[in-house]
Amino acid sequence: MASLPPIDLFRGWPASELIPVDSLKDAAIKALSSKSISEAGFGYGPDEGYHPLRQNIAKWLTDYYGPQETITSDRVCITGGASQNLASILQVFTDPLQTEMIWLVEPTYHLIFRPFEDAGFYGRMRAIPEDESGMDVQALERALEELTHAGGDKNSHKSYVGKPARSYRKIYKHVIYCVPTFSNPSGTTMACSRREALVRVARKYDALVICDDVYDFLAWTEGPKSKPIGHSIQRLVDIDRIIDGGPQDAFGNVVSNGSFSKLLGPGCRVGWAEGSEAFIYGLSQAGQTKSGGAPSQLMSTFINELLETDTLRQHLSTKVIPEGHRRNSLMVSAIRKRLTPLGVTFSPDPEQNTVVGGYYVWVKLPSPLDADQVCEKAIEMQNLELGNGHLFSVPGGESQCVDLQRCLRLCFMWEDDEQLVEGVNRLAIVIEALLDSE
Ligand SMILES: Cc1ncc(COP(=O)(O)O)c(C=O)c1O
Repeated sequence: MASLPPIDLFRGWPASELIPVDSLKDAAIKALSSKSISEAGFGYGPDEGYHPLRQNIAKWLTDYYGPQETITSDRVCITGGASQNLASILQVFTDPLQTEMIWLVEPTYHLIFRPFEDAGFYGRMRAIPEDESGMDVQALERALEELTHAGGDKNSHKSYVGKPARSYRKIYKHVIYCVPTFSNPSGTTMACSRREALVRVARKYDALVICDDVYDFLAWTEGPKSKPIGHSIQRLVDIDRIIDGGPQDAFGNVVSNGSFSKLLGPGCRVGWAEGSEAFIYGLSQAGQTKSGGAPSQLMSTFINELLETDTLRQHLSTKVIPEGHRRNSLMVSAIRKRLTPLGVTFSPDPEQNTVVGGYYVWVKLPSPLDADQVCEKAIEMQNLELGNGHLFSVPGGESQCVDLQRCLRLCFMWEDDEQLVEGVNRLAIVIEALLDSE
């Protein structure tokens, strides 16, 4: 139905009205008007990134998460966003000849596979299923145990070491990738007990857990707030600092991969990594960083102004979070009204979760419909773009998530109110038509 205007519930971007253009403009003018700041901004900059921004991020993270121990700037380095930084982490801390396997929660963020392939792990990614409490850590441990008993991965050539030993790094034997809070695509938040179990499993099998913590700040609750909401989110990196007496070695087993993409705008291409001091220093020694300093140096000086003046915090608390809350409620009530009666289920349900957030609602179609059929018809009949569940399965291995072919990801942060409701209506029309033709 080409005459219908397009609606895109797949795109996982912030809507343009959520970008703080004026604040960024003011921040840029302020930074560029100061000789010392602009000189720093236009230079190559230190390997770990613009120091005032590292300090301000460390303070902001400490205030938000309220960890047992203060986060210092030595634990933080500046990145070019979570995707760029994933590639850097793999460059420094893995070697396809020594690192045996990449374990990913499934369903998982669909654009994450390429960096693993680029780093030499094509065909060596394995899916670990999740339920409503997040990654099934027992299934992960069973799989790691089986691989260990089988003598490790046959693809790894232990007699030849591809990357030289360097004092600033270690090569981990395994990598575990997850989005513990408000996961992309399922919106799932990993239970605290699972987080602790995951850190212990990572230590036992010499694994690095890479957490994309990119949605943590986009959290809201229906109930009264007695303390900052972030205090209820215990990151894996915080757990690794304290559990069982702290990290087993100087590098630790968890890195938190943060980003301003979903908070300010993806084009900023600025993020941060947090981990042990040794890990962060090692990460800053990646070859491409040594030749040029940390990425996004100039933009870092602009974003630092937003932190200095508390503008970022205000933007999140007065704009992005209320907007996310409102949009999520709007989409969920449209789903309840139009899709639930057709047999569709969804998660996370704000009525059953004290803290909700992120960008996505994960929808399960009624039997016998499948996501391919629905996505194809949605475009053809309704000019409606949806996130097909298939996209989020880990390539190369057997899918662990039996229901993916019946699932859809719906983003509530891109389209405006009218389009969100209309998009759900259009999806209902497609489902009705397909159920009628069965
Ligand atoms: C889980 C996850 N990680 C990383 C990214 C990309 O982050 P960045 O723009 O900082 O590279 C996204 C974007 O959708 C995401 O959902």
